[in-house]
Amino acid sequence: MTAETHTEKKLAILISGSGTNLQAFIDRMQTNSLGAEIAVVISNRPEVKGLQRAADAGIATETIDHTGFASRELFDEQLIECINRYQCDAVVLAGFMRILTPQFVNHFHGRLFNIHPSLLPKYPGLHTHQRAIDNRDKEAGATVHFVVPELDAGPAIIQASVPIEPGDNAELLAQRVLQKEHIIYPQAVQWFCEDRLQLTNDNVLLDNRALPKTGFLLAE
Ligand code: GAR
Repeated sequence: MTAETHTEKKLAILISGSGTNLQAFIDRMQTNSLGAEIAVVISNRPEVKGLQRAADAGIATETIDHTGFASRELFDEQLIECINRYQCDAVVLAGFMRILTPQFVNHFHGRLFNIHPSLLPKYPGLHTHQRAIDNRDKEAGATVHFVVPELDAGPAIIQASVPIEPGDNAELLAQRVLQKEHIIYPQAVQWFCEDRLQLTNDNVLLDNRALPKTGFLLAE
């Protein structure tokens, strides 16, 4: 193989629900602009809409219901086994609402991605939009980051912001932020799939240059 050719990477996308971010990846894959194949979509909840989106696109699906496991560790072991069975190069958490064990996170170090609906380091955890409104912030947004064992604390890759409008509620704001999520998440993973993105120690390198701590900022 020459330096110019690289094999297409395989992704596992993990979901818990509606899967609009998953759909953004599917759309990019179908127009050959993702540079990767979605090898499998895994849900921890049965019968969610995201599983149907994957099936409609002809992508393999697996349901690993967390309620059937005695511990987080056993659930995560099953997840790792499944992801490895599909020989995935990277793992994309797309609205996957389970906290992962350090064993899982370390297993996929440097190739495990998450999107979080806030301008991290602001508002890790839940109810991000309501918290931004309650704090009278002028803007909200989303962050794609590498995952580390500490929740929503991994090095940022890319952020996008949106204005908070007068009269906004959490639902309206979430919709506005989601539109940006659908742009920045496939973009970040595409960089990885093109071998342009790396995690070294705590630095994120894009084309061998360190990104700022809040990641690349998507232009308005
Ligand atoms: C997205 O807004 C994503 O950022 C968020 O869940 C939503 C999933 O939507 N993720 C988290 O809150 C993770 N902490 P989707 O299922 O339509 O992609």
